[in-house]
Amino acid sequence: MASRVSICFFVLALSIFAFTKIGAEETESKEFVLTLDHSNFSDIVSKHDFIVVEFYAPWCGHCKKLAPEFEKAASILSSHDPPVILAKVDANEEVNKPLATEFEVQGFPTIKILRNGGKQAQEYKGPREADGIVDYLKKQSGPASAEIKSVEDASRLIDDKKIFIVGVFPKFSGEEFENFTSLAEKLRSEYEFGHTLDAKFLPRGESSVAGPIVRLFKPFDELFVDFQDFHVDALEKLVEESSLPVVTVFNSEPSNHPFVIKFFNNPNAKAMLFLNFSHEVADSFKSKYREVAEQFKGEGISFLIGDLDASQGAFQYFGLVEDQVPLILIQKVNGEKYLKAHLEPDHIAPWVKEYKDGNISPYRKSEPIPESNNEPVKVVVADSLQDIVFNSGKNVFIEFYAPWCGHCKKLAPILDEVAVSFESDPDVIIAKLDATANDIPSDLFDVKGYPTLYFKSASGKLLQYDNDRSKEGIIDYIGKNRDKATSQESSKDEL
Ligand SMILES: *[C@@H]1O[C@H](CO)[C@@H](O)[C@H](O)[C@H]1NC(C)=O
Ligand SMILES: *[C@@H]1O[C@H](CO)[C@@H](O)[C@H](O)[C@H]1NC(C)=O
Ligand SMILES: *[C@@H]1O[C@H](CO)[C@@H](O)[C@H](O)[C@H]1NC(C)=O
Repeated sequence: MASRVSICFFVLALSIFAFTKIGAEETESKEFVLTLDHSNFSDIVSKHDFIVVEFYAPWCGHCKKLAPEFEKAASILSSHDPPVILAKVDANEEVNKPLATEFEVQGFPTIKILRNGGKQAQEYKGPREADGIVDYLKKQSGPASAEIKSVEDASRLIDDKKIFIVGVFPKFSGEEFENFTSLAEKLRSEYEFGHTLDAKFLPRGESSVAGPIVRLFKPFDELFVDFQDFHVDALEKLVEESSLPVVTVFNSEPSNHPFVIKFFNNPNAKAMLFLNFSHEVADSFKSKYREVAEQFKGEGISFLIGDLDASQGAFQYFGLVEDQVPLILIQKVNGEKYLKAHLEPDHIAPWVKEYKDGNISPYRKSEPIPESNNEPVKVVVADSLQDIVFNSGKNVFIEFYAPWCGHCKKLAPILDEVAVSFESDPDVIIAKLDATANDIPSDLFDVKGYPTLYFKSASGKLLQYDNDRSKEGIIDYIGKNRDKATSQESSKDEL
């Protein structure tokens, strides 16, 4: 765990937005965000019914972007009644790592909403710019469900951009109402809830129902759904199922982003069609794609359509190039990818069917194998990984990195020095692989963030390196875990 958090975390959903948003300028003045550490965390948190804590690392790019927005939100929320407190913990500090573990921090930034003096913790699932943070936290610090007493209440709360869930009840008591309330408490960080005695106030759906029913409003597809099963688990399942659009749209419209995040977090295979939305053929792609999505509903594939203009992050992440659009990419849960470039609307349905039937082979993204590989740190690509790491019979220390990752840049000169120190040792290879430009076999390497470091001994032992990222630490580790090279004849120069 300790080293688990000192990586450039990548959640795909975050990475694909990385290029769509620019952080504000930093301001130097009074800090409204409280700085907490292991010595005063419990003390301060236990005094608050509601407090928001960001776990960050100084080197993390997403954290740096968030910082000025978080600070601005804290300054606005300090005059809210009652004030809403925002705090931060440097989870990269060794002494604070137990806190990060306690709150299940797996990447940066992680923001938690703590209620009841810290007895309950919820993941922050709101926006990351100041006004959005303020709105979201105002709602989170109020009641989990708002009473709707008029048409005006309803039109203020329910709009055509987000999901809103309303319980209609003959009275605000009884088991159904209690179950609805526990659902609202449980899912409040992700959805907004309301309750009413009169369905006439609501903008859509049958208005004469007396309830109890739960009506979910959504900005897509059938626009609302009614449920009558009040078991908490059944309600939760229905909410989850109804809140994923048949086709998720990814463009620069921020109100779509929560659905894009949901898309990437859902456990299905993911089909993604990327094209230029301004292009004249876009409409026929959209309607054909939708037909396909409906046809394959319930078959374990989720569908997204992305505008080229908003997709630079996704393109970089998947190693795609603009020349290939319109293209469709399917990523299976195991990471395998299937690609068809230069697509036409009528190709979509047959191609997805071929994929479903197992008639298409996955593609492996790889940079070309470098012609010369004379630097101390050897460049490995997907197509040479097997040969260098597994078939060379040598001790290999390999870094999986991303070009944009600050922590990797910090490690680069250290790795260079390590490599130089082993240069005259024919049994040891120090290597690196750009994990954004090459697919990595996920059954062998668990790469959830950058840099991820592995050591494979000459005899085939494969270990993830979680220790100190210093020259001495790495050299020492290789010394302890290496064994005799299994093949005498091949030498490093042949790489
Ligand atoms: C918590 O303690 C740290 C030093 O250990 C200090 O920098 C910080 O200001 C304290 N936070 C609060 C809110 O008192
Ligand atoms: C309320 O939820 C609980 C737990 O899921 C369930 O046992 C109970 O039957 C539910 N009540 C109603 C009226 O559905
Ligand atoms: C998308 O298409 C429009 C219209 O054909 C064009 O002006 C624009 O440059 C294209 N955008 C990209 C990113 O290729």
